[in-house]
Formats: sequence, structure tokens, C-alpha cells
Amino acid sequence: MAILKIRTYPDPVLTRPAELVREITPEVTALIDDMAETMYFNDGLGLAAPQVGISKRIFVMDVPVDEERSSNLRVLINPEITAREGWFVMEEGCLSFPELTVEIQRAANVTVEALERDGRKIVVEAEGLDAVCLQHEIDHLDGLVLVDRLGPLMRRFALKEFARLQRTTGGEE
Ligand code: NI
Repeated sequence: MAILKIRTYPDPVLTRPAELVREITPEVTALIDDMAETMYFNDGLGLAAPQVGISKRIFVMDVPVDEERSSNLRVLINPEITAREGWFVMEEGCLSFPELTVEIQRAANVTVEALERDGRKIVVEAEGLDAVCLQHEIDHLDGLVLVDRLGPLMRRFALKEFARLQRTTGGEE
């Protein structure tokens, strides 16, 4: 396994819709394992393939179920939102926008159909943080990033703030 380099905004791979996975090959499962390792290494709740430069409809996420530290790793391939309900506002961050957080309104409950790592079809019903995470990662697969969920004024403000954060923490690489 390997820790992959995270692409940050405005890397063009982040704003391009990702391709459907036609076959779960050993390369795909190896990518999934590397993505999970990369997500944990960076303390993320989720990581989508475009964020590591691969334009495929795959993401991993781990939203803890409770205070216990047990892993709740989920792999979703070719996910599709089949139902959404209500509204929920949350402060969100993204590994592709280091340090930035913005308040975003999304559906409070979602149903998502996808394939698991082994090709099994799964249906996930989620609410709250879990639902937010699913929608955030699916956005990545559609080429939508955090700031695309903001109105034009807030978007401009958030990008300005991100540029400022990049300048002050930019010496890392
Ligand atoms: Ni993200």
C-alpha cells in the first residue's frame, strides 16, 4: 500500500466529471486500498479518486459510528443518489482545500446505491454527518468542489480566504 499525493484546488482533475468503473480489476482494488490509507494518513472522513488524480467514480469514507475508535471504512464505486430528503447545514472541510471550512446546505437524508469493493451492490441510507459526507464525495465524482455549493458571493469570499490560507501555510511542500 502507498500514501498518495492529494491534489488541491485548482488542479483540473478536481473539476472534471469522473468516469464510471466498468470492471473491478486488481488495479482498482489496489487503488482503493491506497486511497483508504491516504485518507487515514491525512485524518480525512472521506476521499474520492479524483483527489488523488484518478478520474474514476470511486470513493472511500469512514465516519465513526460512536466514540469508539473502531473503523467504519466504506468503499463506494459508481455511487448514485436515489433519494434525498430535508435540509441540513454543516461546516465542511476538504483535503483538497487544506485549512478552509465553509458552511454548506445539503440534503439531511440520502439513499445511495453503489458497488462495494468486491462488486456487491449496496444500498446505503444515511443521515446527518454520514449523509453530508456521502454527498460531498459524490460531488467530487461529478467534478464539483466545496465552493461550487456556495452562492456567487460566498464562493468568491471562500476562494479569497483559501488563497490567503495557501500563502500563510504554503511553505509545506
Ligand atoms: Ni472533499
